[in-house]
Amino acid sequence: MKFHVLTLFPEMLEHGLHQSILGRAVEKGQLSFHMVNIRDYTQDKHGKVDDYPYGGGAGMLMQAQPVYDAYQSVIRENTDAAGSQMVKKLRTVYVTPQGRTFTQDMARELAREEELVFLCGHYEGIDERVLEEIVTDYVSIGDYVLTGGELPAMVMIDAIARLVPGVLHNEESAETESFHRHLLEYPQYSRPEVWHGRQVPEVLLSGNHRQIAAWRLEQSLARTGERRPDLYLQYQNEQKLIETLAKQKRKYIHMMELLARGRAHIVCQNDRNVLLQVEGSRHYALYAESPEAAELLLESPGGVEMLQQKQLSLTVCQERIRELLQRRYGFETERVCFQACYTRKEPLRVPCRKIRPLTEADLSYVASHCRGYEEAYLRRRLRAGALLGIFTGTEGLPTGFIGLHEDGDMGMLYVEREYQRQGLAVSLESWLINDQLKRGEIPYCQIAEENDAVVGLQKKLGLYLCQEPMWKLFLG
Ligand code: ADE
Repeated sequence: MKFHVLTLFPEMLEHGLHQSILGRAVEKGQLSFHMVNIRDYTQDKHGKVDDYPYGGGAGMLMQAQPVYDAYQSVIRENTDAAGSQMVKKLRTVYVTPQGRTFTQDMARELAREEELVFLCGHYEGIDERVLEEIVTDYVSIGDYVLTGGELPAMVMIDAIARLVPGVLHNEESAETESFHRHLLEYPQYSRPEVWHGRQVPEVLLSGNHRQIAAWRLEQSLARTGERRPDLYLQYQNEQKLIETLAKQKRKYIHMMELLARGRAHIVCQNDRNVLLQVEGSRHYALYAESPEAAELLLESPGGVEMLQQKQLSLTVCQERIRELLQRRYGFETERVCFQACYTRKEPLRVPCRKIRPLTEADLSYVASHCRGYEEAYLRRRLRAGALLGIFTGTEGLPTGFIGLHEDGDMGMLYVEREYQRQGLAVSLESWLINDQLKRGEIPYCQIAEENDAVVGLQKKLGLYLCQEPMWKLFLG
């Protein structure tokens, strides 16, 4: 991921961002930081970048021209070879106390971009006209005022960069840390066993992983209740929803797992009816007990905001609600699917174990067999280690693969024609199921209605197929 920072003090960030974990990620080529000194772009012969505000008032204002030209230098880098056409519009974050407050959810969403621009202000602010032209997001790190945008930009960059797949050694640590599922992290201990007369809790020395996990959850709950009762209420609410959805587990497994894995947040809710948004995406899922309840949700503030967006997808599992969405809100049916989930706790036998994660180097191979997915999406999945290849051929090339989608369902299954009917799909999916079981998840997939071969595979592996369809609806 590439960060461009427009600043008057590049050294401040340069030094801070090249240390420790981020420094290592830069060396490995997972991150890059591009500092743009706004002063280099001033047309003033004395190097001035600020002036008095019209109408009077305290302090100086950063002028539009140097900021705009510094920004254009970044955009020019993103032009095609002919230098004329803009390849893409970059998300540009202006760090300002007037912005939305930065959160872990926001960090997750921004971490999905391939490039980001940060604009750091100084003095009393920046000429409004240039902000109107270039800024896409106004973000603050909290309700206090600092002398400039460099420190807030570093705070945000650090929080975003560590979520980029591969930056942290252990993907798991981003999942179990504070704020995952609204819970604060449990207490941790290292050697020695006794320090200042304080003993490490007995259970952590037991080697019993199930008991340790239960103890940690209990500690997280207690700690969150005590220190952040606001978060604790959110957690309790989600737990109640999961229990409601669990009454129709096969039908609503996707929503249960999205909540349980901390992969979605509640957009709006009314009693047990709920609209979820998959973290950092335009994918939504709806659970409503009746079309009337669905309508109420969609006409409430979060629902209205969703409907104003373009190019969004919404998953529903009830025929009458699908009709309502099509008739009243103009949704179109994108896909009809049947969900299947693996509700047992026992791992499956994996006949062929020549399986390992694919890497970004396999992108063109995966993309050529995974039509219907954008390359940027497949690249993100590869970086996250979410695509597994099986290597049964002679030339060290994969002979098939499977993956875990961003919103948690298994998919993207492919086996080379000449290697079909040899159990490769069984091995790939069993491996992926076992991996999810280790994390305490319930594996599931969504099968397009005509795909008999995949339905057969799910039955063979012991997944329960929901007999009722789900619809992926599309708007805009
Ligand atoms: N610039 C000055 N104070 C700030 C804050 N709290 N958040 C973001 N940018 C700022």
